[in-house]
Amino acid sequence: MYPLRRNRRLRTNEAIRSLVRETIISPNDFLVPLFVVEGKGIKDEIPSMPNYFRYSLDLLENEVKELWKLGLKSVLLFVKVPDNLKDNKGTEALNPNGLMQRAIKTVKNVCPDMLVMTDVALDPYSAYGHDGIIEDGQILNDQTADVLAEMSVSHAQAGANFVAPSDMMDGRILTIREALEEEGFINTGIMSYSAKYASAFYGPFRDALDSAPVDLIDIPKDKKTYQMDYANRLEAIRETEMDIDEGADIVMVKPGLCYLDIVREIKNEVDVPLAVYQVSGEYAMLKAAAEKGWLDHDAVMMEQITAIKRAGADIIASYFAKDVVKLIS
Ligand code: PBG
Repeated sequence: MYPLRRNRRLRTNEAIRSLVRETIISPNDFLVPLFVVEGKGIKDEIPSMPNYFRYSLDLLENEVKELWKLGLKSVLLFVKVPDNLKDNKGTEALNPNGLMQRAIKTVKNVCPDMLVMTDVALDPYSAYGHDGIIEDGQILNDQTADVLAEMSVSHAQAGANFVAPSDMMDGRILTIREALEEEGFINTGIMSYSAKYASAFYGPFRDALDSAPVDLIDIPKDKKTYQMDYANRLEAIRETEMDIDEGADIVMVKPGLCYLDIVREIKNEVDVPLAVYQVSGEYAMLKAAAEKGWLDHDAVMMEQITAIKRAGADIIASYFAKDVVKLIS
């Protein structure tokens, strides 16, 4: 008697394992988040994100060139807005000469073929750290969507290829799509953060941009009235299908690792490209464990990235992008 199938034959050595491997990671999988600050000569390490930096525009140029050389061809821009420019309605977000608009031009200038995506949300511009305009104890939905549409047009004017609304207001994809079409930006795409959960994993990102919600008497300090309840699954499908109907070219699940069940389910449901955002807290967790010598950084990083792709991600937004590409090249 012998086992009818000996599955271990296909695991005998690395040659056969690589021959039958189902998920291969390449530089084409990645979208690289970049944090931009005002000033000159600044490459500032984010304390809760070891080896990840905020760049002033002059040093952003070098970083973008390096990414391109590594085969990383898409970036997602975020800006840290000075406190004195923050208010309740995102006024600075619409400044044609604002930091985001200059950052887009800087990237396009040094690397015209780099795909530039921009974060579209009010929180970095909000004096209250929220993704919407606040009035009478409410986050205003439709008024916020209108500002996001203006913001998107402004980013398109500066040269962005894709806008990436990360706010979770209802109906904003349609509002943005209409505004872009009206202004003639028919080729500017929308990557919607369609299933974005109210997650505690965004902490280090909010440190990086100084964008955490502040204490207010009549508004909760969390984002649970607009970001999704992490207990929910069907809601993610609903949100995603609606965004596609409204005109999203790419949809997203965020965060990554804790939500791979949602990733697979959405991948099976929809036929547009699916992005997954492995967020700042996921990055911080591995860096911290590796620093203590408790986890093998590179091995765990590859396992996590491969798991995200295996679950169904067509695009992975990750702070590990450079580390991974250096490791596999
Ligand atoms: C802002 C935004 C957040 C992230 C991306 N865009 C933070 C938030 O919603 O509070 C988080 C990214 C990360 O943690 O890496 N709308």
